[in-house]
Amino acid sequence: MKGIILAGGAGSRLYPLTLVASKQLQPVYDKPMVYYPLTTLIDNGIREFCLISTPHDLPRFRQLLGDGTAWGISIEFREQARPGGIAQAFLVADTFVGNDPVTLILGDNVFYGGDEFKRAFGEFQSGASIFGCHVHDPERYGVVEFNAKGRAISIEEKPKQPKSNYAVPGLYLYDNQVISITKSLRPSARGELEITDVNLEYLKRGQLQVYRLSRGFAWLDAGTSSSLHDASAYVQTIEKRQGIKIGCPEEASFHRGFLSLDQLAALTSKMPNCEYREYLQNVVAEATRLTTQIPPHH
Ligand code: DAU
Repeated sequence: MKGIILAGGAGSRLYPLTLVASKQLQPVYDKPMVYYPLTTLIDNGIREFCLISTPHDLPRFRQLLGDGTAWGISIEFREQARPGGIAQAFLVADTFVGNDPVTLILGDNVFYGGDEFKRAFGEFQSGASIFGCHVHDPERYGVVEFNAKGRAISIEEKPKQPKSNYAVPGLYLYDNQVISITKSLRPSARGELEITDVNLEYLKRGQLQVYRLSRGFAWLDAGTSSSLHDASAYVQTIEKRQGIKIGCPEEASFHRGFLSLDQLAALTSKMPNCEYREYLQNVVAEATRLTTQIPPHH
């Protein structure tokens, strides 16, 4: 399965922060925001990426991420000339996707915890899989309604009167039909190709699976100054308490086997002295200890 990271848009709600660096390049505590969705996909086994952003911001993403080789992945970059909607990503990345299934993640969605993503990626065969996450302000999102059997029966984009508290977060898994479905979409009233319309088409075809995210799952939306601050505070709290990092692509690539221990060690040794380097040095030291440990004789 291929992976698209959508990191364009105007970022106007973060003005003036976004005058010089786009929203997805802003820090969420100790790393650029885009590291988090990238890590989420690496964690789930995605190795081939296409990052989509504006012509203005794309060079900075290239500078930040390179072509992915250093992390054992590949990253292509594509321009979205104007923000024509989330689903437009499938038209921009059409030749990147080819005949494969594809997952799309929004560059400003930070996820942490739970095992629903692992399940969804593991179980995915065809159709579409999306998620439903309980929130207090569903009217800001795509909202999914379930019947008594837990099946999704409707999805509405930013409804004034939401039929449930379950919002659809910015991670979507699709089979290759997504390309032809998107090509047949008409822009919505706000002039965008809506991801909700893609999901509705799969629902109509009886091919939409919606996983409900459990209580232990954190979905942080970093789209406004206040939610950006909250996301940073959340990441800091977890990282300090648990001594692990959220959103560390190098570590995720290593755990997935995309990077060998030697490669991770070499990469780490090139970093300047900083807390991020220290963290990865510890990951290397621990993995080295485990691989060189001689099993006790009995
Ligand atoms: O965050 C999840 C929500 O994302 C879903 O619940 C909604 O169903 C979905 O429509 C979307 O809601 P928003 O309208 O709030 O999305 P927004 O326009 O803020 O775009 C989300 C991200 O995608 C944002 O970081 C910018 C980027 N983007 C957006 C559009 C429309 C692009 O890169 N290009 C675009 O054309």
